[in-house]
Amino acid sequence: MTVYTASCTAPVNIATLKYWGKRDKALNLPTNSSISVTLSQKDLRTLTTASASSDYTSDKLWLNGKEESLESPRSKACLQDLRQLRAQVEASNSDLPKLSQYKLHIVSENNFPTAAGLASSAAGFAALVSSIAKLYKLPQDMSELSKIARKGSGSACRSLFGGFVAWEMGESIDGEDSKAVEVAPLSHWPTLKAAILVVSDDKKDTPSTSGMQLTVATSDLFQYRIKDVVPKRFEEMKSAILAKDFEKFAELTMKDSNSFHAVCLDSYPPIFYLNDTSKKIIKLVHKLNELEGKIIAAYTFDAGPNAVIYYDESNEQKVLGLLNTYFGSLGGWESYQGETLPKLEIEG
Ligand code: PMV
Repeated sequence: MTVYTASCTAPVNIATLKYWGKRDKALNLPTNSSISVTLSQKDLRTLTTASASSDYTSDKLWLNGKEESLESPRSKACLQDLRQLRAQVEASNSDLPKLSQYKLHIVSENNFPTAAGLASSAAGFAALVSSIAKLYKLPQDMSELSKIARKGSGSACRSLFGGFVAWEMGESIDGEDSKAVEVAPLSHWPTLKAAILVVSDDKKDTPSTSGMQLTVATSDLFQYRIKDVVPKRFEEMKSAILAKDFEKFAELTMKDSNSFHAVCLDSYPPIFYLNDTSKKIIKLVHKLNELEGKIIAAYTFDAGPNAVIYYDESNEQKVLGLLNTYFGSLGGWESYQGETLPKLEIEG
């Protein structure tokens, strides 16, 4: 039996300007543009191998050694788009094997515990789409592929690129212009680093899709956020990244995390993602910046209580030292081109 295979990795990305709200649930079209930093490959990433064979009888997926369903509408949408593109390639070259008609076996592994409460779907769908695109020998236009990954999980579109990435929300109803683009490569700002503090590894309280739907339907503050706040912030954050202006980047990142959690709280009934430890981390970062007389650290929180702290390498001792002192009992990953966060020991 002939088996065709290809492998790819995709890292986790952490939004500094949050995607929160869908204008089309089936296509994962957002109500605002967003920006993220993709972590380096050696940190948190998914490795996926896709194989196709005429002998396979059904599409199958194994995630971290356990068989999972590929039957969700999101996974099906990704496979369907990729098969369609492959069929076009096959139509123009009749010598190619008809992989578009073969079933797929997909083996995916995260190099971090899935239970760590860190968004794994972004890296997962990005790795799924890029490994199949490689197997199918599709043109590797990352923005094009990002539109397919977006259908799997909105934020996955940004993990197709390394470094600093924007997801342009687009305007069309079919989502053709809702795609990820590179703001700057990883090498543009090599001294920017991130530390992840795992506050809780519990499963999310409210999954992102239902949380977004609730916010869109019930929050008044949300309308203000998407119309008056995010469009301006999107441009300012891109400029801050291009200028490597840490203080501006950090201020915008913290404000946007707070704005996102504020619209969650303004949803009815309210959605709480931050816990008391998260709030202590926020206070500590502000205290540190105040004592320094300038911003040297920024926090951001996704749909859960875990913190990501951005800082410049030159301030690593100060920032990690303080986090160690107060939150030493938490697990963590230093990330973004550096060493592993020293094992933290002191009780928070
Ligand atoms: O792509 P999803 O459905 O996992 O939603 C991600 C939502 C946030 O992580 C809170 C924000 C973001 O932009 O990644």
